[in-house]
Amino acid sequence: MREIELLLSLTPRQWDVHLSQARFRVLVAGRRFGKTQLALAELLFATWGRPGSLAWYVAPSYRQAKRIAWTRLKSMLPPAAPAAINETDLSIRLPLGGEIALRGADQYDSLRGNGLDFAVLDEFASMKPEVWPEVIRPALADRRGRALFIGTPQGHDHLYDRFQFAQSQGLAGASTPDSSDEFAGRARAVAGPVSTVADWQAFQFTTLDGGIVSKEELAGAARELDERLYRQEFEASFEGTAFGLAYHAFSREENVRRCEYRAGARILWSLDFNVHPMCSVIAQRQGDTVEVLDEVVLDNANTLLACESFWQRIQGWRGKHNMGTLQIEIYGDASGHQRRTSGAGTDWNLIREFFAQRYGQSTAHIRAATSNPGVRDRVNLVNSRLLSAAGERRLFIDPKCRQLILDFERVCWRADELGQPTTELDKSDRMRTHTSDALGYYLAQAFPPYAKIGERHDRIF
Ligand SMILES: Nc1ncnc2c1ncn2[C@@H]1O[C@H](COP(=O)(O)OP(=O)(O)OP(=O)(O)O)[C@@H](O)[C@H]1O
Ligand SMILES: [Mg+2]
Repeated sequence: MREIELLLSLTPRQWDVHLSQARFRVLVAGRRFGKTQLALAELLFATWGRPGSLAWYVAPSYRQAKRIAWTRLKSMLPPAAPAAINETDLSIRLPLGGEIALRGADQYDSLRGNGLDFAVLDEFASMKPEVWPEVIRPALADRRGRALFIGTPQGHDHLYDRFQFAQSQGLAGASTPDSSDEFAGRARAVAGPVSTVADWQAFQFTTLDGGIVSKEELAGAARELDERLYRQEFEASFEGTAFGLAYHAFSREENVRRCEYRAGARILWSLDFNVHPMCSVIAQRQGDTVEVLDEVVLDNANTLLACESFWQRIQGWRGKHNMGTLQIEIYGDASGHQRRTSGAGTDWNLIREFFAQRYGQSTAHIRAATSNPGVRDRVNLVNSRLLSAAGERRLFIDPKCRQLILDFERVCWRADELGQPTTELDKSDRMRTHTSDALGYYLAQAFPPYAKIGERHDRIF
């Protein structure tokens, strides 16, 4: 074993990848598997004691490369052998060895013109796919350099294509030394002698395989995520883009039940500021469980009418439970800060005034978010409350919430002209999405998406 291999300890599954002889390796693994750590170790393995060698760590952006890898890489340098560190260029020249540089796939020009011995493409799914064929692959040609693609799945994208290709090549066994590229059925030029090692090898590991995240931690994540997202993020599964029904976790049998207002509970009111119809939901929370008690769906309404309607609905509870002051929390669409559905003040200002006039009968806290979460993130979150990957249901709907139930049973993802899924909901039926949107705004604020485990910040939930 080489000295550098003794200095850097790898987990058993990291070893599996390290020991592969394949020229191009594709590692698909769950979050916190130890992907980046392996990437950095591989950079040192590729350059240590190899004068003149050059290896690159490529992240989706220069900033990401610096944030994720720079400090870590420097801390992995063997202290006994001082290296020349260039902070401006994010490069390290090793004593008696080669050079390692960090690069961002967003800065195309900085990527050209170098002959490389090794390149790691970390978070490959978040890079422009052209980076490989146009820049990195040509740079590896003259030195017959190696490459390691790394990522956590994000659906059927170019990481998936690479993984599939590597898997098919790996299974095929031997291939030609320069059959290195091109997947998807393109003819391969046969050049040179046939090697006994496959050029490509694919690896797929779960987060648990990595041995870094504990079972308990994973169980926590399973409670917070819906099944598909859990499989993607922690089991490294390539889930197809959500298509068809948006709220796939909903079950009329399991999520619909009689929900009665509990005396003294805070009344949660969450609004969508669509006009025709204007929709809101009234809910209560006990610990982690949310019960939707009622919905307010008004045709051709404005915010004031919605406030009045809501106010009427809750008066019965005050009388029944002999309560003086009702505690109300109000949530909803962040766009209500600018929008004026009734011409006068902004939606949120109208609500503020309405409840100010009823001070004494109610204490209203406005919890309007300043921005809305992404639609997919919000829908994923609602699904996780309807049914988590751990099998828990923590969202229940009273049967009188007819429009909300119809939303859960009917709202679909919109398809584009070619029939491909989009990241928007189908709004072709004017009655659909608004009630579930209203509930989603509340849930997104009350239960912020699972504390991000991992380094991928661009698109998570
Ligand atoms: N072989 C190892 N020995 C000790 N610690 C390790 C090892 N591999 C990884 N780690 C530690 O585990 C944590 C996660 O590792 P790393 O960042 O490499 O995972 P990742 O799969 O890249 O995560 P992400 O999904 O966030 O990109 C880090 O704190 C890292 O230092
Ligand atoms: Mg990483």
